[in-house]
Amino acid sequence: MIANYYAKIAGTGHYVPEKILTNFDLEKMVDTSDEWIRTRTGMRERRIASEEQAASDLAYQASLKAIKKAKIKPKDLDMIIIGTISGDHPFPSTSCILQKKLGLKNIPAFDISAGCSGWIYGTNIAKQYIENGIVKNVLVIGVEILTRITNWNDRNTCILFGDGAGATIISRAEPKDISRFIDTEITADGTHYDLLIQTAGGSKMPASKESVEKNLHTLYMEGNKIFKLAVKSMQIACELLLHRNKMDIKSIDWLITHQANMRIIQALGKRLKIDPNNVIVNIEKYGNTSAATIPIALDEAIRSGKIRHGDLILMASFGAGLTYGSLLIRL
Ligand code: UT7
Repeated sequence: MIANYYAKIAGTGHYVPEKILTNFDLEKMVDTSDEWIRTRTGMRERRIASEEQAASDLAYQASLKAIKKAKIKPKDLDMIIIGTISGDHPFPSTSCILQKKLGLKNIPAFDISAGCSGWIYGTNIAKQYIENGIVKNVLVIGVEILTRITNWNDRNTCILFGDGAGATIISRAEPKDISRFIDTEITADGTHYDLLIQTAGGSKMPASKESVEKNLHTLYMEGNKIFKLAVKSMQIACELLLHRNKMDIKSIDWLITHQANMRIIQALGKRLKIDPNNVIVNIEKYGNTSAATIPIALDEAIRSGKIRHGDLILMASFGAGLTYGSLLIRL
């Protein structure tokens, strides 16, 4: 497709709740150890939303920061897209609730259920609307409160997840702007849908006393199988963009992948042959915040001065569905 316009990231922001849950706290809850969690996942602590906070509250805080950074006002937004699997309610969408919080009306607002790939999926959609000239500013967010659907008796999963939100303003780039989306790809493989799933609470198995007693409304994951598929899929997604744009990995300034496991990030980096110094990692502080990991890591790296205007950034995600995707931008 010949684009009429280019899209760019005009502003970023993130918000994480104050409460910290450390590996040592988890040692008191399930049969695990700080040593096991650190060596197997790279995580040291994660954030937990307060009882009063819902996903839209986290998204709102992150949005205000991204809007400020982009030097726009909420009324300049033309669309809101949220990637989440732990929204305020099964319906309506968390995007519509955020729209109200931002004081907006009469713009499209919708959520995407693509697991940890939700933000990458959202940016892909925003790009199409901006390149076609239909909109100028899209708020794309990844937000999760996965600790609400965590089985705190299951040591295989309860050590992994944290809460947080990452927000981005995707805007139309000026013709002279060097910042722009270069390429993006999203895809899915539904044959493995049952490897990472919230079994109850939907139309197949509505919430019941039995489903709650059996913990079927919490997250279930076959971690080991997911691990292997994550590395392979994100490698495919990254290499596709490099190949399609005739780029060598050496030209990439920063790789930001979904922060699910340090060993996944390292294995992917090794396969892509990228210098570990060029890989952004913050998993030790926040654990796996699902759709929020990439926009949180991106915002942190920009605000700390690590990632600068003009840098070439390759991003890749993988999650429930199974979904995966990649995004190549010049900031
Ligand atoms: O965000 C969406 C995508 N998610 C991911 O990509 C997550 C992918 N998966 C993973 O990150 C890893 O598979 C885990 C961190 C979930 C698990 O690590 P692993 O190296 O694959 O361990 P495992 O599941 O093969 O389990 C190894 C052993 C088992 O004991 P046995 O059977 O060998 O005796 C587990 O019972 O480790 C045991 N184990 C634990 N031990 C202490 C599992 N969880 C724990 C724990 N503490 N928390």
